[in-house]
Amino acid sequence: MDTTNLNERFKNLSPQEVLEYFLKKYGTKAALSSSFGAEDQVITDMLLKLDKKANIFTLDTGRLHPQTYSVMDATNLKYGVKVNVFFPKTDEVQKLYQEQGVNGFYESIENRKTCCFVRKIEPLQRALGELSIWITGLRATQSVTREELKVIEFDKVNKVIKVNPLLMWSEEDVWSYIKENKVPYNSLHDEGFPSIGCAPCTRAIKDGDDVRSGRWWWENPEHKECGLHTK
Ligand code: ADX
Ligand code: SF4
Repeated sequence: MDTTNLNERFKNLSPQEVLEYFLKKYGTKAALSSSFGAEDQVITDMLLKLDKKANIFTLDTGRLHPQTYSVMDATNLKYGVKVNVFFPKTDEVQKLYQEQGVNGFYESIENRKTCCFVRKIEPLQRALGELSIWITGLRATQSVTREELKVIEFDKVNKVIKVNPLLMWSEEDVWSYIKENKVPYNSLHDEGFPSIGCAPCTRAIKDGDDVRSGRWWWENPEHKECGLHTK
Protein backbone atom coordinates (compact mmCIF):
# COMPACT_ATOMS: atom_id res chain seq x y z
CA MET A 1 0.00 0.00 0.00
CA ASP A 2 1.32 3.44 -0.94
CA THR A 3 0.95 5.87 1.96
CA THR A 4 2.67 8.81 0.20
CA ASN A 5 -0.64 10.53 -0.61
CA LEU A 6 -1.92 10.22 2.94
CA ASN A 7 1.33 11.61 4.34
CA GLU A 8 1.18 14.50 1.89
CA ARG A 9 -2.44 15.18 2.85
CA PHE A 10 -1.77 15.17 6.61
CA LYS A 11 1.48 17.13 6.38
CA ASN A 12 0.13 20.34 7.89
CA LEU A 13 -2.58 18.88 10.14
CA SER A 14 -2.48 18.77 13.93
CA PRO A 15 -2.44 15.37 15.72
CA GLN A 16 -6.10 15.98 16.69
CA GLU A 17 -7.06 16.50 13.06
CA VAL A 18 -5.26 13.34 12.00
CA LEU A 19 -6.99 11.37 14.79
CA GLU A 20 -10.38 12.84 13.93
CA TYR A 21 -10.01 11.73 10.31
CA PHE A 22 -9.34 8.09 11.28
CA LEU A 23 -11.98 8.01 14.04
CA LYS A 24 -14.64 9.27 11.65
CA LYS A 25 -13.64 6.93 8.86
CA TYR A 26 -12.92 3.74 10.83
CA GLY A 27 -14.69 4.07 14.23
CA THR A 28 -13.60 1.28 16.59
CA LYS A 29 -11.63 -0.39 13.79
CA ALA A 30 -9.06 2.30 14.63
CA ALA A 31 -7.34 1.87 18.00
CA LEU A 32 -4.51 3.30 20.07
CA SER A 33 -2.12 0.81 21.62
CA SER A 34 -1.20 2.37 24.94
CA SER A 35 1.66 1.59 27.29
CA PHE A 36 0.40 4.45 29.49
CA GLY A 37 3.61 6.35 28.72
CA ALA A 38 3.46 10.15 28.35
CA GLU A 39 2.86 10.14 24.57
CA ASP A 40 0.08 7.54 24.83
CA GLN A 41 -1.60 9.54 27.59
CA VAL A 42 -1.63 12.62 25.32
CA ILE A 43 -3.24 10.63 22.51
CA THR A 44 -5.72 9.04 24.94
CA ASP A 45 -6.81 12.51 26.07
CA MET A 46 -7.15 13.71 22.46
CA LEU A 47 -9.07 10.60 21.37
CA LEU A 48 -11.51 10.56 24.27
CA LYS A 49 -12.19 14.28 23.82
CA LEU A 50 -13.08 13.53 20.21
CA ASP A 51 -15.12 10.42 20.97
CA LYS A 52 -15.88 8.75 24.32
CA LYS A 53 -16.07 5.38 22.55
CA ALA A 54 -12.62 5.60 20.96
CA ASN A 55 -10.87 2.23 21.06
CA ILE A 56 -7.78 2.06 23.28
CA PHE A 57 -6.01 -1.13 24.26
CA THR A 58 -2.97 -2.11 26.28
CA LEU A 59 -0.72 -5.16 26.32
CA ASP A 60 -0.37 -6.30 29.93
CA THR A 61 2.81 -8.37 29.88
CA GLY A 62 2.38 -9.39 33.53
CA ARG A 63 5.72 -7.68 34.29
CA LEU A 64 4.64 -4.02 34.41
CA HIS A 65 5.51 -1.59 37.21
CA PRO A 66 2.88 -1.02 39.94
CA GLN A 67 2.95 2.68 38.90
CA THR A 68 1.76 1.69 35.43
CA TYR A 69 -1.32 -0.03 36.90
CA SER A 70 -1.94 3.13 38.96
CA VAL A 71 -1.99 5.38 35.89
CA MET A 72 -4.17 2.84 34.10
CA ASP A 73 -6.64 3.04 36.97
CA ALA A 74 -6.44 6.87 37.10
CA THR A 75 -7.07 7.02 33.32
CA ASN A 76 -10.11 4.74 33.47
CA LEU A 77 -11.54 6.78 36.36
CA LYS A 78 -10.86 10.22 34.89
CA TYR A 79 -12.40 9.50 31.50
CA GLY A 80 -15.05 6.99 32.63
CA VAL A 81 -13.72 4.27 30.33
CA LYS A 82 -12.17 0.81 30.61
CA VAL A 83 -9.10 0.51 28.40
CA ASN A 84 -9.10 -2.94 26.76
CA VAL A 85 -6.43 -5.31 28.05
CA PHE A 86 -4.74 -8.07 26.09
CA PHE A 87 -2.84 -10.65 28.13
CA PRO A 88 -0.31 -13.23 26.94
CA LYS A 89 -1.46 -16.84 26.51
CA THR A 90 -1.23 -18.76 29.80
CA ASP A 91 0.32 -21.91 28.31
CA GLU A 92 2.97 -19.87 26.46
CA VAL A 93 3.95 -18.03 29.66
CA GLN A 94 4.19 -21.35 31.51
CA LYS A 95 6.42 -22.75 28.74
CA LEU A 96 8.57 -19.61 28.77
CA TYR A 97 9.09 -20.01 32.51
CA GLN A 98 10.01 -23.70 32.13
CA GLU A 99 12.51 -22.89 29.38
CA GLN A 100 14.24 -19.77 30.71
CA GLY A 101 13.19 -19.33 34.34
CA VAL A 102 11.83 -16.12 35.83
CA ASN A 103 14.32 -13.58 34.46
CA GLY A 104 15.91 -15.47 31.55
CA PHE A 105 15.77 -12.35 29.36
CA TYR A 106 18.99 -11.06 30.94
CA GLU A 107 20.92 -14.08 29.69
CA SER A 108 20.70 -13.61 25.92
CA ILE A 109 19.08 -11.48 23.23
CA GLU A 110 17.37 -14.61 21.99
CA ASN A 111 15.76 -15.25 25.39
CA ARG A 112 14.77 -11.59 25.61
CA LYS A 113 13.15 -11.64 22.20
CA THR A 114 11.29 -14.84 23.03
CA CYS A 115 9.91 -13.24 26.20
CA CYS A 116 8.90 -10.09 24.25
CA PHE A 117 7.24 -12.30 21.65
CA VAL A 118 5.18 -14.26 24.17
CA ARG A 119 4.29 -11.32 26.39
CA LYS A 120 3.88 -8.50 23.81
CA ILE A 121 4.05 -9.46 20.14
CA GLU A 122 1.59 -12.35 20.05
CA PRO A 123 -1.01 -10.40 22.11
CA LEU A 124 -0.42 -7.40 19.82
CA GLN A 125 -1.02 -9.54 16.73
CA ARG A 126 -4.26 -10.79 18.31
CA ALA A 127 -5.33 -7.19 19.02
CA LEU A 128 -4.42 -5.95 15.54
CA GLY A 129 -6.26 -8.86 13.93
CA GLU A 130 -9.52 -7.01 14.67
CA LEU A 131 -8.31 -3.63 13.40
CA SER A 132 -7.70 -1.58 10.26
CA ILE A 133 -5.85 1.32 11.92
CA TRP A 134 -3.14 1.05 14.58
CA ILE A 135 -2.42 4.33 16.41
CA THR A 136 0.84 4.60 18.35
CA GLY A 137 2.72 7.16 20.44
CA LEU A 138 5.99 6.83 18.52
CA ARG A 139 8.12 9.98 18.16
CA ALA A 140 11.02 10.42 15.75
CA THR A 141 13.46 11.75 18.35
CA GLN A 142 12.99 8.79 20.71
CA SER A 143 15.59 6.64 19.02
CA VAL A 144 17.91 6.13 16.04
CA THR A 145 15.53 3.37 14.98
CA ARG A 146 12.61 5.84 14.75
CA GLU A 147 14.13 8.78 12.83
CA GLU A 148 12.96 7.59 9.42
CA LEU A 149 9.33 6.88 10.37
CA LYS A 150 6.39 8.64 8.74
CA VAL A 151 3.09 9.77 10.31
CA ILE A 152 1.29 7.16 8.21
CA GLU A 153 2.99 3.82 7.56
CA PHE A 154 1.71 0.53 6.26
CA ASP A 155 2.55 -2.39 8.55
CA LYS A 156 3.03 -5.26 6.12
CA VAL A 157 3.33 -7.90 8.82
CA ASN A 158 0.09 -7.05 10.63
CA LYS A 159 -1.63 -5.64 7.53
CA VAL A 160 -2.84 -2.46 9.18
CA ILE A 161 -2.27 1.22 8.56
CA LYS A 162 -0.10 2.52 11.35
CA VAL A 163 -0.69 6.11 12.45
CA ASN A 164 1.91 7.97 14.51
CA PRO A 165 0.21 11.33 15.20
CA LEU A 166 2.91 12.67 17.58
CA LEU A 167 5.80 11.68 15.32
CA MET A 168 7.12 15.24 14.92
CA TRP A 169 6.41 16.37 18.49
CA SER A 170 9.26 17.08 20.89
CA GLU A 171 9.39 15.83 24.47
CA GLU A 172 8.58 19.43 25.54
CA ASP A 173 5.45 19.44 23.36
CA VAL A 174 4.28 16.25 25.09
CA TRP A 175 4.82 17.63 28.59
CA SER A 176 3.22 21.01 27.82
CA TYR A 177 0.11 19.18 26.61
CA ILE A 178 0.03 16.97 29.73
CA LYS A 179 0.33 19.95 32.08
CA GLU A 180 -2.14 22.18 30.19
CA ASN A 181 -4.78 19.46 29.95
CA LYS A 182 -4.15 17.91 33.40
CA VAL A 183 -3.63 14.50 31.86
CA PRO A 184 -2.83 11.69 34.35
CA TYR A 185 0.71 10.41 33.85
CA ASN A 186 2.96 7.65 35.16
CA SER A 187 4.76 8.86 38.31
CA LEU A 188 7.90 7.03 37.13
CA HIS A 189 8.38 9.89 34.63
CA ASP A 190 9.22 12.10 37.65
CA GLU A 191 11.82 9.56 38.80
CA GLY A 192 14.04 9.55 35.71
CA PHE A 193 12.10 7.15 33.48
CA PRO A 194 11.32 8.91 30.15
CA SER A 195 10.55 5.56 28.49
CA ILE A 196 8.72 2.86 30.45
CA GLY A 197 8.31 -0.79 29.55
CA CYS A 198 8.38 -3.88 31.74
CA ALA A 199 9.73 -3.43 35.28
CA PRO A 200 12.72 -5.82 35.05
CA CYS A 201 13.78 -4.37 31.65
CA THR A 202 13.55 -0.62 32.38
CA ARG A 203 15.64 1.55 34.66
CA ALA A 204 16.02 5.27 35.41
CA ILE A 205 18.47 7.37 33.37
CA LYS A 206 20.54 10.46 34.18
CA ASP A 207 19.92 13.93 32.67
CA GLY A 208 21.42 14.09 29.18
CA ASP A 209 21.32 10.33 28.58
CA ASP A 210 19.54 8.99 25.50
CA VAL A 211 15.82 8.73 26.36
CA ARG A 212 15.66 5.02 25.61
CA SER A 213 18.95 4.12 27.30
CA GLY A 214 17.09 2.82 30.35
CA ARG A 215 15.29 0.17 28.25
CA TRP A 216 17.13 -3.20 27.94
CA TRP A 217 20.17 -1.25 29.12
CA TRP A 218 22.43 -4.32 28.92
CA GLU A 219 21.95 -4.54 25.11
CA ASN A 220 23.36 -2.44 22.21
CA PRO A 221 21.17 0.46 20.93
CA GLU A 222 20.38 -1.25 17.61
CA HIS A 223 18.75 -4.16 19.48
CA LYS A 224 16.58 -1.96 21.64
CA GLU A 225 13.23 -2.72 20.05
CA CYS A 226 11.01 -5.47 21.35
CA GLY A 227 9.62 -6.19 17.91
CA LEU A 228 6.38 -4.24 18.30
CA HIS A 229 7.66 -1.67 15.82
CA THR A 230 10.15 -3.47 13.62
CA LYS A 231 9.52 -2.98 9.93
S1 ADX B 1 8.69 -0.42 22.76
O1 ADX B 1 8.60 -1.08 21.46
O2 ADX B 1 10.02 0.04 23.10
O3 ADX B 1 8.07 -1.23 23.84
P1 ADX B 1 7.76 2.18 23.47
O4 ADX B 1 7.69 1.86 24.91
O5 ADX B 1 8.81 3.16 23.02
O6 ADX B 1 7.82 0.85 22.58
O7 ADX B 1 6.35 2.68 23.02
C1 ADX B 1 6.08 3.07 21.68
C2 ADX B 1 4.64 2.80 21.37
O8 ADX B 1 4.41 1.39 21.34
C3 ADX B 1 3.67 3.32 22.40
O9 ADX B 1 3.37 4.67 22.15
C4 ADX B 1 2.49 2.40 22.21
O10 ADX B 1 1.71 2.82 21.11
C5 ADX B 1 3.15 1.07 21.87
N1 ADX B 1 3.35 0.23 23.08
C6 ADX B 1 4.48 -0.01 23.74
N2 ADX B 1 4.28 -0.82 24.79
C7 ADX B 1 2.97 -1.12 24.79
C8 ADX B 1 2.10 -1.89 25.63
N3 ADX B 1 2.56 -2.57 26.68
N4 ADX B 1 0.79 -1.93 25.32
C9 ADX B 1 0.29 -1.28 24.26
N5 ADX B 1 1.05 -0.53 23.44
C10 ADX B 1 2.36 -0.44 23.70
FE1 SF4 C 1 9.85 -9.85 28.78
FE2 SF4 C 1 11.41 -7.73 29.35
FE3 SF4 C 1 10.26 -8.01 26.92
FE4 SF4 C 1 8.81 -7.41 29.08
S1 SF4 C 1 10.40 -6.13 28.08
S2 SF4 C 1 8.26 -8.85 27.55
S3 SF4 C 1 9.85 -8.68 30.67
S4 SF4 C 1 11.86 -9.32 27.87
